[in-house]
Amino acid sequence: MDNRPIGVFDSGFGGLTAVRALRRLLPEEDIVFFADNGRAPYGSRPAEQLRRMARQDVELLLAQGVKLIVAACGTVSSNAAEVLRAAPVPVIGMIEAPVEAIRAAGGAGAIGVIATEATVRAGAFAAALRAACPGREVLSVACPDFVPLIESGHIRPDDPDVAAAAERYLAPLREREIGTLLLGCTHYGLIAPAIRACLGGGVRLVEASACAAVSAAERLRGSENRGGGTLRCLTSGDLALFTALAPLLLGEEITPEAEALPPMEA
Ligand code: DGL
Repeated sequence: MDNRPIGVFDSGFGGLTAVRALRRLLPEEDIVFFADNGRAPYGSRPAEQLRRMARQDVELLLAQGVKLIVAACGTVSSNAAEVLRAAPVPVIGMIEAPVEAIRAAGGAGAIGVIATEATVRAGAFAAALRAACPGREVLSVACPDFVPLIESGHIRPDDPDVAAAAERYLAPLREREIGTLLLGCTHYGLIAPAIRACLGGGVRLVEASACAAVSAAERLRGSENRGGGTLRCLTSGDLALFTALAPLLLGEEITPEAEALPPMEA
């Protein structure tokens, strides 16, 4: 038994998809979630900057005494893997678990990956999918407008701006008749209805954060907390906006706390 909390971080609201899945799978675990809304989006930043930010995010959670970290950010997982590997506690990233889920499900159709610009540029999802699913075509599409839309509160399932962006980004994947779409940015699970409406019901959506939560639960088997179940949410961004949006996205009431970050060189 290990009663230390699980740490989760992301650039912003996207990490709530991982928190939501962890709350369902591991209701007795305490969770500390850090949302770096103040510095979102991460997906337009260069790799070197992302590595520095990842180090700060990990250190912030380590200072909270966490036993395991879920790096609920495809951008950090793709661009700062060595920072995550160097952490003194296990870190579950967003790459391995969804790729393994797609491999295990089998099939022969093309696989689409949608993610941030920095994630697509790093190519980690595409490389891992090609290695795990030889012979299957992998098509990666960056969707740079999704995260700024979500971070500014465009979260209603029928939001017209999200629907227009989804049509623009996903039409090429629809034309290629992909069978599976990997949501390689954790924010995208928050607009899954718009993505599904655009692609139709025949495409299997695989959410990186949901798969990673399953992997975290497997990792903790035998050292679970028994009787915790608290959730602390820290944000570097606008506390009022976080307080308004996060409970809607999470499906439960929370009392977020402001978190100051050390100043970061450009
Ligand atoms: N949710 C994060 C990801 O998975 C970051 C998105 C962003 O801030 O651009 O990539």
